[in-house]
Amino acid sequence: MIKDSNSPHIPVLLNEVLETFNRILNSKNPNFLGDKVIESNNQFPLIIDCTLGYGGHSRKLLQSYPRLKIIGIDRDLDSIKYNENLCDEFNDRIYIVKGAFGEMLPLILNEFLRPKSSNISNIIESSFLENVKLVGILADIGVSSLQFDNINRGFSFNSIALDMRMDVSQNLSANEILNTYNRLELEKIFSEYGEIKEYKKLVNLILLERENLRKNSKNPNFSSEILHAIALKLNHKKSIHPLTLIYQALRIAVNDELGELKRLLKACENLANCLLCVISFHSLEDRIIKETFKIWAKNCVCDENVMKCECGNNHAKGQILYKKPLVASASEIKSNPRSRSAKLRAFYFFKD
Ligand SMILES: C[S@@+](CC[C@H](N)C(=O)[O-])C[C@H]1O[C@@H](n2cnc3c(N)ncnc32)[C@H](O)[C@@H]1O
Repeated sequence: MIKDSNSPHIPVLLNEVLETFNRILNSKNPNFLGDKVIESNNQFPLIIDCTLGYGGHSRKLLQSYPRLKIIGIDRDLDSIKYNENLCDEFNDRIYIVKGAFGEMLPLILNEFLRPKSSNISNIIESSFLENVKLVGILADIGVSSLQFDNINRGFSFNSIALDMRMDVSQNLSANEILNTYNRLELEKIFSEYGEIKEYKKLVNLILLERENLRKNSKNPNFSSEILHAIALKLNHKKSIHPLTLIYQALRIAVNDELGELKRLLKACENLANCLLCVISFHSLEDRIIKETFKIWAKNCVCDENVMKCECGNNHAKGQILYKKPLVASASEIKSNPRSRSAKLRAFYFFKD
């Protein structure tokens, strides 16, 4: 288990990520899928790490492949600051961008998909992109340990404020949602993002509490204690505590996590010769990834109602690498319990 002595985050499924990228970075791998032309043209392979976090995956990839370059994106300023030393450590083989990958990835990919109409120069220095070839994209779309463990950030049950913003420069926080969203908006969040059966009861309790807070306090903020007390009034038959689902729903809403994932996948759909590797941590995200990969891998795009295929049956964009998602081994879960819900799926986009 790799944990850099200074790093606050243990990268999940690290070996699985390395093995997956080995298939495009190591031409001696018997399952090599990549492009040998890169070596013969003396080009630099490039991976975009959409969730740089504490640099765990990126650092190990850069250590393993001395010609590899990485563009690392993160929306959290703490993560950007933490990784500043990576540029020195790896001799400028990494370029760091602050922003949401749903916004940044399409802009960056524009350079590789439509080089002539590029507007990337505003984001990435052109010298970094000289002679590079995009070969892979990585996204490890959870919350980092530092985000969880910092009680000021609001991700954990013992947080001081109900914040949950990955990017603290954005306005919307969990407290803002609880204090301002109407009944229907709250019901949508808790039924869709938390899959909470008693979502109507939950929203009633939240709205009652909102009224109480406004009557009795000059500073009507929801705290984790208040949410905890509300959660205890819900049925607790499932193995997952209702508070976990409430937190999950709020976090997804605050950070528009499903919207971000959909934008990431949309941005990738016209890639060629490129590997996409996504690690997700809850079933809502995993479902979106699984369904999208299935559609991409389909040869026939005819309407369901046609009797005979008329489309040529050759429309697959690429191949799904693993039938079932890769998950953490028992020993990884033991040393890093946060890996227990991680699922890795990968898709390789065929050549042009
Ligand atoms: C699980 S951590 C990644 C850890 C990283 N792979 C490592 O090994 O250190 C997830 C990171 O992704 C970032 N993140 C999550 N969603 C994002 C988004 N839509 N855009 C940019 N960064 C995002 C979070 O701020 C967090 O730092």
